[in-house]
Parts: sequence; C-alpha cells; structure tokens
Amino acid sequence: RVAYVNGRYVPHREASVHVEDRGYQFADGLYEVVAVRGGLPVDFALHYDRLCTGLAALQIANPLQRAAWIVVLRQMIQRNRVRDGILYLQVTRGVSPRNHLFPHGVMPSVVITARPGSGPSAESISVGVSAVSVADIRWRRRDIKSVSLLPNILAKQQAAEQGAYEALLVAPDGTVTEAGSSNAWMVNASGEILTHPVGHDILPGVTRMVLIRLARAAGYTVVERSFTLEEAKVAREVFVSSTIAYVMPIVSVDGVKIGEGVPGPLALALRTLYVGHVA
Ligand code: PDD
Repeated sequence: RVAYVNGRYVPHREASVHVEDRGYQFADGLYEVVAVRGGLPVDFALHYDRLCTGLAALQIANPLQRAAWIVVLRQMIQRNRVRDGILYLQVTRGVSPRNHLFPHGVMPSVVITARPGSGPSAESISVGVSAVSVADIRWRRRDIKSVSLLPNILAKQQAAEQGAYEALLVAPDGTVTEAGSSNAWMVNASGEILTHPVGHDILPGVTRMVLIRLARAAGYTVVERSFTLEEAKVAREVFVSSTIAYVMPIVSVDGVKIGEGVPGPLALALRTLYVGHVA
C-alpha cells in the first residue's frame, strides 16, 4: 500500500508528517472520505465542493488544482489496487513552530490514503442496527468537516460500549442534529422522510444530498426539518446515511424499538436507490 504525503507516493507504513504539523497540534485542518466503486471515486465533485468551502472558511489555500486532485486520487486508486473501498483526504494548514496564529508562507499539508473495503455487512443491513442518544457537545460550525473529532469519537465510543452502532447526537433543545459519523433521518406517521436542514448545526453530508435528490425523483416526500429524540423514538423508521454506510437502518434507539424493530421499507428503498446511483 502507498500513501500520498505532500506530493510524494510513499509506502503506507512509512508515511508520516512532521511533529509540528498544525493538524497534529491544533486539529487545524479538514478531511473528506470519498467512496471508491468499480475503481472510480463516487461523487467526487460534491466532496470537492465541500472541501473547497471548508478550506475557504478556514482561510487555507487549496494546495492542488482540481485537475491535480483528480490525477492524484486516480493514482491512489490504481497504486493501491482499490476496486471498492475508500479514499481519505486530509488538508492541514501546514508545518510551523507551534503558535496559535496562522503562520505565513507555509504550504498546507496534504495526506491521502486509500483502502479497500465494502462497508457494513449485508447482515447488519438486513437486520438493522441500534443507536443510543448522546449529548451533542460539538462546536457551532459542524458544517466544516474539521479533523477535530473528539466529541464524535467520544460519542461513538460510548455508543459502542453500550452495544450500539451509532450515537444520535442531541442538542440541548432535544433536537437530533445528526449522528456520530453520519446524518440522521426518520419517517413520521404521515410517511414523510425528515432530516435536519443544512446550516451550521450539521455536516452537509454528500450522501444526504444525493439521497434527497434520488428520493424526491422517485416520488417520496422529503422534508428538511429537524426532529426531536422523542419523535425519533415513536417514528415509523429511523436511519442514518454516510459515504461509508450508505443507508443504515436503525431498529432501536436507547433500547426503544423503532417501528416493528426491523429495517423499514423506506430505508431499504433509499438504500437500493443509492446503490444504483453508485454502481
Ligand atoms: N463521516 N455527519 C458527520 C458528523 C460525519 O462525520 C459524516 C461522514 C456525515 C455523512 O457525510 P457524507 O455523507 O458526506 O459521508 C455526517 C465520514 C464518513 C467519517 O468521518 O468517516
């Protein structure tokens, strides 16, 4: 396996960045996870747009032109012989002696890894998974895909220790913002599909955006409206979406059975639409 580090393809086990990288010291950087299907990146344009928006918000110069990103990602897929898997892209402000202020004249650091893998098991999709609620203690710019993921890893660790697959992140007013590493959705009694609106409170998931488009084109009603944990617990269906999991049905929340306790028809229908989209 090879990794890409600042313009070089290096053996994965030797790939490293400097100890004074600002990503390491300050989590001063961004990342993207892009799926690879059939040897091609999935929805690169949407991931790239989000990366550019994040870089602009943090005043980090884009280290590569769009065409160069595409060349490097293609190289990474080929050199690692990935047919189905994921690309991880990380851009940090760069290497400079530790100081909170932005350094001058420093090149951003770029790290890319690629690995094969086919996401969640068919079994977990057919029986569904559980989630638990965790307080959303993140900062107020969750739209920026920052490498600062402490609240997310703590939430997911807590969920795992309680035997759950995901953490539903709950704001002080009871709203489910999203999940530890995915966007959250529910289906209400009228059959409407609800998911939190974009803005500063959630990550604008690429999968979320594509699913909204696919669902509406297929005639489903999707409403970008937030819902509470209490609403989720009495929902017909709950599911989460991400680049890695696509659409994952949630069959229990805090031990409360959702619907019949099996993956719901809309979650499975959206998953099928999404699988068709990436194929
Ligand atoms: N996580 N919300 C959060 C907090 C996320 O971390 C992610 C993705 C999503 C879904 O976004 P997308 O559909 O663009 O993958 C929503 C990635 C996969 C990760 O951290 O591994």
